[in-house]
Amino acid sequence: MKNIFRNLILRILSKWRIRKGEKFSHNTRIVLRKIEKKEGLFIDEIRGNSLPKLDQARFRQQAKGDSLYLVAFIEKMPVGYIYINFSGTCKYHTSPVLQDLFVKSKLREQNIGTQIIQEAERILKSLNYKKLSLDVEVRNGWIQKLYEKQGFIKKGGHHEQSWIEEDSGKRVEIKVVYLEKNI
Ligand SMILES: CC(C)(COP(=O)(O)OP(=O)(O)OC[C@H]1O[C@@H](n2cnc3c(N)ncnc32)[C@H](O)[C@@H]1OP(=O)(O)O)[C@@H](O)C(=O)NCCC(=O)NCCS
Repeated sequence: MKNIFRNLILRILSKWRIRKGEKFSHNTRIVLRKIEKKEGLFIDEIRGNSLPKLDQARFRQQAKGDSLYLVAFIEKMPVGYIYINFSGTCKYHTSPVLQDLFVKSKLREQNIGTQIIQEAERILKSLNYKKLSLDVEVRNGWIQKLYEKQGFIKKGGHHEQSWIEEDSGKRVEIKVVYLEKNI
């Protein structure tokens, strides 16, 4: 009972701190850990909206051992997430793919995204993977630079990707560059 009360207070405090756009000290470290389906609300809280079909598919894939849904916490406050797909989604993916790196909008530009990439890499290394990769939209040149600063290297030219977003029913068409890193 005491624990339930304590966790409730922590959740309220966490929501309040995020809402006011908490500024962290330079040395603040994240804890990145796998979340289970029952903790899916953390993702909604970070993203600021709910994509139930997407998340159900991701948790199904994680349950089969094909992926990892990882959430970053600072002092128990969910601040960002990343989804790792072990086998990728395109022919040219030959290693686990980092998908959907996301940091709570009010908490951006405080080194959280960089730490999530570094921690995800550490987790994959501990699982004996030797390489990781990702696609980044061509129009997001600064995000490509963010990954290149972490040692990712662009391979080949552009790729066209298209899919139907299950939650909105909208067709998405994007142009991406493919980056890889040996770990
Ligand atoms: C991309 C994202 C995860 C970055 O997270 P973040 O916590 O703000 O990133 P960091 O604070 O670690 O910043 C890393 C670098 O990017 C730079 N950067 C961050 N936001 C930036 C912006 N809006 N424009 C230009 N540069 C930016 C930082 O200055 C920093 O550069 P430096 O290392 O040279 O100082 C975050 O902006 C986000 O969630 N965006 C929406 C989702 C998205 O587009 N994800 C990318 C999928 S590939």
